[in-house]
Amino acid sequence: MKLFTSVHDVTDINALAAEALQLKQNPYAQQHLGKNKTLGLVFLNPSLRTRMSTQKAALNLGMNVMVLNMDKEGWALELQDGVVMNGSTVEHIREAAAVLGQYVDIIGVRSFPGLKNREEDYNEEIFNKFVKYCGVPVVSLESATRHPLQSLADLVTITELKTKPRPKVVLTWAPHIKPLPQAVPNSFAEWMCKADVDFTIAHPKGYELSTDFTDGATITHNQDEALADADFIYVKNWSAFEPYGKILPGNDDWMLTNEKLKVTNDAKVMHCLPVRRNLELSDEILDGPSSIVVHEAGNRVWAAQAVLKQMLENL
Ligand code: CP
Repeated sequence: MKLFTSVHDVTDINALAAEALQLKQNPYAQQHLGKNKTLGLVFLNPSLRTRMSTQKAALNLGMNVMVLNMDKEGWALELQDGVVMNGSTVEHIREAAAVLGQYVDIIGVRSFPGLKNREEDYNEEIFNKFVKYCGVPVVSLESATRHPLQSLADLVTITELKTKPRPKVVLTWAPHIKPLPQAVPNSFAEWMCKADVDFTIAHPKGYELSTDFTDGATITHNQDEALADADFIYVKNWSAFEPYGKILPGNDDWMLTNEKLKVTNDAKVMHCLPVRRNLELSDEILDGPSSIVVHEAGNRVWAAQAVLKQMLENL
């Protein structure tokens, strides 16, 4: 594997999830793979889980890790070609990415969307330029439109905890006070559409995701109907795709509660985190027996380790 930016970079998602679970059983068996190899993690946005779990995964594989908080510690990046750089930008992404590629063997990049211009965000300008100019394998630490390491960890979690061959998985929209990217739901949807699950997406009218990510999913505006007999519920807010990046009025009653869980098949509740308590998810769920959000975050290590292992094997 030379690139990990979406489910389309993976030949067999079930085999990759199985490999992650094997690494969980025996984390240090592949330390030889990473000897004298360096992972560079470039963050243009904040992170807790992705940063720490990917570092831990690399250390488990015997790699060295360097982290650059580019938004705070790097030079202001210019993305456009052919411009006179007489404004606030100091370094062009062509040099920045190429130079980083001189120092490391694999690069991870996190770059969120601006949520102002849909075409720009969905063209993944920053991310694709890193891939184009850095000259080494690239793993997405979350881009404008996808979060594949999170989605792989989610698949690993469902594979690990399911009690039937084909569980019912429901992605349900949740309220928020800020417009959030569609990256996590887009990505979760495209992974679940390829997984051995019965997959439903529930959201209020107006929060339709791009159909590029949802082909094969059942989509409904009726949350109660979607939750019936669910085995796993994935809770996530996202802003509208059309009008792009907007929050639509109402829908506060979409927050999941224990009452709503009564119609499920004793469902396990997932969230990528961070989560705003009692806005996106209630205390009673997060602190109760249904929540597997911390377990899910723990699996981020094994997902990242499986991806880095495959990249190291192909260096
Ligand atoms: N879920 C996730 O990506 O968390 P961080 O933003 O903290 O990395």
